[in-house]
Amino acid sequence: MDLRPLKLRNKVVPIPIIQGGMGVGISWEKLAGAVAKEGAVGVISAVGTGYRFPNLVKRDKFGRPIGSIYTHSKEALTFMIQEAKRISEGKGAIGVNILCAITDYGRVVKDAIEAGADLIISGAGLPLKLPEYAEDADVALVPIVSSARALNLICRTWEKRYKRLPDAVILEGPKSGGHQGFKYEECFMEEYQLENLFPSVLEEANRWGGIPVIVAGGVWSYRDIKAYMDAGAAGVQMATRFIATHECDAPEIYKRILLEAEEEDIILLKSPVGYPLRVVKTPFVERLLAGYNGWQGCISHCITPCNKGEEAKKVGFCIADRLGAAWLGNYEEGIFISGANGHLLKKQGIIHVSELIKMLTGQIPDPTVEEPAKTV
Ligand SMILES: Cc1cc2nc3c(=O)[nH]c(=O)nc-3n(C[C@H](O)[C@H](O)[C@H](O)COP(=O)(O)O)c2cc1C
Repeated sequence: MDLRPLKLRNKVVPIPIIQGGMGVGISWEKLAGAVAKEGAVGVISAVGTGYRFPNLVKRDKFGRPIGSIYTHSKEALTFMIQEAKRISEGKGAIGVNILCAITDYGRVVKDAIEAGADLIISGAGLPLKLPEYAEDADVALVPIVSSARALNLICRTWEKRYKRLPDAVILEGPKSGGHQGFKYEECFMEEYQLENLFPSVLEEANRWGGIPVIVAGGVWSYRDIKAYMDAGAAGVQMATRFIATHECDAPEIYKRILLEAEEEDIILLKSPVGYPLRVVKTPFVERLLAGYNGWQGCISHCITPCNKGEEAKKVGFCIADRLGAAWLGNYEEGIFISGANGHLLKKQGIIHVSELIKMLTGQIPDPTVEEPAKTV
């Protein structure tokens, strides 16, 4: 293995790959634990954890957790972190992905730290107050950004208010799964592609004493990882490839939808979070595109920018309800997220995390790779 280890605060992780957090329920304890066991970073998604143990939370007649306290359940998250750590046998690291946009953001950061998370990853907005909630806990703080400007603002704010800098930063380009930190049209523009954003973010990170830069969004193979690391990245964050693994927490139908998706089936939708959302065109998305409004009232109070359902009503769906439905395996009503490269998963098939990590570190051939190496 010729990739450098990844240093995150006091922890050195042998394999510089972070498995990206995937909500609702796509990366919970089984996937995160299995990834960490291989010596990489497994990440649990902290959104909608109330879906994991229906008996632990108050729900309405459709099974939706009621209010933010049950939607982002402390008990469920605590179990997941502890179980992921058990599965990992103390190897790698266990992170928690907490969107800045969720209601009770500060409380969930504290819940994750109390339960033993090694790092907190936060995007979908700028996590300007993250160090305040983390206090003096020995936990790595890793914001997600989409520009050098955003990194500069986070560093200036954290240094001034908290005398602290990020332990690493994730630069996420517009080929990633889920929410994009760009306007719709920017997602297709050359200047906003990951390889073109990377030099300025690396330069900014170096100006702050060499904050490790981790790249994400469409990074696919060992050759991509090697190219970015040779150009100065400290590691990569990858999500979509991990969906096609036996250990991924998603239901079988979720995996099948991605394995059957063609390139043109993966599209960007308007989301109540306020950013474009990359999803697979499944029946609910088709109906939405045809003008249907599937909003059924706000029960979960899941994210603050939605303004208790106001934005959901405008875009025609509640994000918690639809991602929750996908986790429950409801093909007709769910929304199924994928990265732009999801259509390549059919060449991978469903494999074990151990095998995928071997492919990504160049130890075994990768059946999905035919094209020439990426140049950065
Ligand atoms: C199914 C799915 C759900 C995701 N959910 C989240 C999330 O809850 N929070 C977040 O910050 N990123 C989320 N992401 C983004 C990933 O963490 C990751 O950064 C991104 O997908 C990387 O690009 P890739 O999928 O091309 O590897 C999600 C991605 C996928 C595919």
